[in-house]
Amino acid sequence: MNIILLGPPGAGKGTQAQRLVERHGMRQLSTGDMLRAAVKAATPVGLQAKAVMERGELVSDEIVSALIGEELDAMGSETGAIFDGYPRTEAQAHSLDAILGQRGRTLNHVIELAVDEDALVERITGRFTCANCGKGYHDKFERPQVDGTCDKCGSTEFKRRPDDNEETVRTRMAEYRAKTAPILPIYEARGIVARVDGMADMDQVTAAIEQVIAS
Ligand code: AP5
Ligand code: MG
Repeated sequence: MNIILLGPPGAGKGTQAQRLVERHGMRQLSTGDMLRAAVKAATPVGLQAKAVMERGELVSDEIVSALIGEELDAMGSETGAIFDGYPRTEAQAHSLDAILGQRGRTLNHVIELAVDEDALVERITGRFTCANCGKGYHDKFERPQVDGTCDKCGSTEFKRRPDDNEETVRTRMAEYRAKTAPILPIYEARGIVARVDGMADMDQVTAAIEQVIAS
């Protein structure tokens, strides 16, 4: 099973991908996470990506497609892939076709998380993650059970993303509208797009996604 989670910043791609990983042993391939790891490690890719990401613009198609190919090669061919934040442009959509084809994989579903843009700034500016295991939280919508302690690993260290401020979020949304939303028709023409209400509560969104992948 290979699926794309498509939606604007804050739509819930990462949240839902983490749940699919836990339930189905699939692998989350988040180009955002890969790029953040590269920035942290100050690799050549990271050095190139840092300022672009801080502005909320898109990193080059070549860089992200290479990262996706490497990640797929590093995982077992039987493991399902959840593409989170990739593809984001028409060129990336075509690259993904080639990348999957070369590895004998097919794309089963493109799940569009439909959200109301007004809610996204609040979702993103309230987001934080465990610095140790990466579990995602939100100041208002998903607090740890014990304040200051990660539910999953017990760590007491959390972090926030440098691009999670209102100004950058607005640029990220504009990039989504201009470059990413236009790739949907490519997949609609193949009849593999399912639209899920991303404004519902997290468990309902998960249930709707489960229905799609069981179909
Ligand atoms: P990336 O890391 O992909 O960020 P993004 O697309 O902006 O998406 P987010 O991670 O912000 O949102 P999400 O949908 O994962 O939401 P989440 O589940 O966390 O990309 C970052 C940057 O990297 C880009 O700007 C670009 O520079 C670069 N980049 C990455 N990929 C690239 C590519 N392919 N090409 C070029 N450049 C690339 O949810 C958000 C919050 O809301 C959480 O706190 C969560 O708890 C809460 N929440 C989630 N669901 C719900 C719900 N149903 N109800 C209430 N709250 C909810
Ligand atoms: Mg994310």
